[in-house]
Amino acid sequence: MKRLIYSSCSSENVDFNVVGEMLTHAVKRNKEKGITGMMVYDGHRFLQCIEGDETVIDALLEKLREDTRHHSLHFNGIEFDENRLFANWNMGYVNNSKEIHKIMHAVTGNEIFSPETLNYPDAKLILWELSFIL
Ligand SMILES: Cc1cc2nc3c(=O)[nH]c(=O)nc-3n(C[C@H](O)[C@H](O)[C@H](O)COP(=O)(O)O)c2cc1C
Repeated sequence: MKRLIYSSCSSENVDFNVVGEMLTHAVKRNKEKGITGMMVYDGHRFLQCIEGDETVIDALLEKLREDTRHHSLHFNGIEFDENRLFANWNMGYVNNSKEIHKIMHAVTGNEIFSPETLNYPDAKLILWELSFIL
């Protein structure tokens, strides 16, 4: 199983409503393809983990690269693992700023949500910790 974590910035016309609708579709697709993961969005930036078969993850990555709803994709890291971290979610979603800042501060000492600056272990830990509020 391949796990990939990346960060990106939402495009100008994208807000919580657009992201909510996009996710409803994504969860359906992910279920069909056996993709699990977690996504955090603060209204400006995304941090997302996607887990699944390598070919399926690579195909989604191609779609993500072409998706104009976000830009400035930055790869925090990739790893192969026998077990899924987010097995219970076809895409868990957290957009609660207060919780995001709290966990950012606990992990990095800085509460500003700048996911592109996170190293892979910290990015993974932040997504993992935030999954507990789902
Ligand atoms: C931040 C962000 C996260 C996304 N996450 C997913 C996802 O987890 N799964 C997914 O299928 N599409 C996701 N998408 C949408 C894809 O880029 C693409 O629009 C979608 O896979 C197309 O689906 P379809 O052509 O199979 O209908 C995401 C888009 C953005 C901007």
